[in-house]
Amino acid sequence: MRLSFAPMEGVTTYSFRQLHAALFPGAEKYYAPFIAPDGSGKFKGGRLRDILPENNRDIRLVPQILCNRPEPFLAVARELAAMGYREVNLNAGCPSGTVVPKRKGAGMLADLRALDEFLAEVFSRCELAVSVKTRMGLESTEEFPAILEIYNKYPLQELIIHARDRRAMYSGRPDLAGFATAFRASRPPVCYNGNVFSPADLTGPVSAAPGLERVMLGRGAAANPALFRQLQGGPALEAAELKDFLRRLRDAYQAQGLSERYTLARLKELWYYTVQMFPGASAGAKRINKAQTAAEYQSAVDALFASGRFSPEAAFRG
Ligand SMILES: Cc1cc2nc3c(=O)[nH]c(=O)nc-3n(C[C@H](O)[C@H](O)[C@H](O)COP(=O)(O)O)c2cc1C
Repeated sequence: MRLSFAPMEGVTTYSFRQLHAALFPGAEKYYAPFIAPDGSGKFKGGRLRDILPENNRDIRLVPQILCNRPEPFLAVARELAAMGYREVNLNAGCPSGTVVPKRKGAGMLADLRALDEFLAEVFSRCELAVSVKTRMGLESTEEFPAILEIYNKYPLQELIIHARDRRAMYSGRPDLAGFATAFRASRPPVCYNGNVFSPADLTGPVSAAPGLERVMLGRGAAANPALFRQLQGGPALEAAELKDFLRRLRDAYQAQGLSERYTLARLKELWYYTVQMFPGASAGAKRINKAQTAAEYQSAVDALFASGRFSPEAAFRG
């Protein structure tokens, strides 16, 4: 199985990715959280730092663009090509209420003619390979056959299907039957995404779509960084390595120059997922969330590890 780490805005930062790859190898590719270009197609600040090659050594990174106009998309793609990237990913899946009404992210699925025109322009002019990460529809996954007809017209490097419609956001069960149909009908190679939080969760998509070779992991791997290794038959996560990973991540954020407040905000965002490796530890989780200083944070984390609630069998469950 070829496994990739999903883009997760606010979670899979470059420090996270670098450390994850070093301590928990097994992800073939990492996708960077989206770049939303302004009119000029330029991007800077945190977004630029996040994808600079020197911040992404020793991993295969695919940058992602959230944009519905060819010109800014192509301008960013040119910058990425100049940095040495070979592939860029289009975000056609973001369900956010601030993105979709602008017909970006999953909002691109509202107007299939516009999507077709966008892809025609991009594929005729983009010097990078282009992959797409998509939802299966806006209101219903039954919209997908018509959407797939558009994708099938172009030589996508890969079609990553988050097997939900936009309305479902991140909840409910992915539509495995709809995914199976799409898997068979897709011309581009398909990667499955959605709710693979443990080895047992692979059974559904793999039996629905025999021959499936590519799976993207998001929240499950944010909770359990060893999930890649486990899905490949390796050992489960140990408390000590999770503790070490989190400590090194805190140090990396500080070394990156993030303020104490920002470092804590980033770590708390990750803890939203990781805390599920500690079943029944809601008081410990609250304490981490309330921490205002690095010292309060560390003592809350140490207390949680000392509570003995860590379970290698636990997993993110939504
Ligand atoms: C906090 C958060 C941030 C996300 N950021 C992005 C993003 O920048 N680009 C994107 O394509 N998907 C983004 N996603 C969606 C994930 O990549 C993934 O498709 C989704 O979580 C479903 O996979 P999972 O069930 O394995 O988590 C985000 C999801 C979450 C929860």
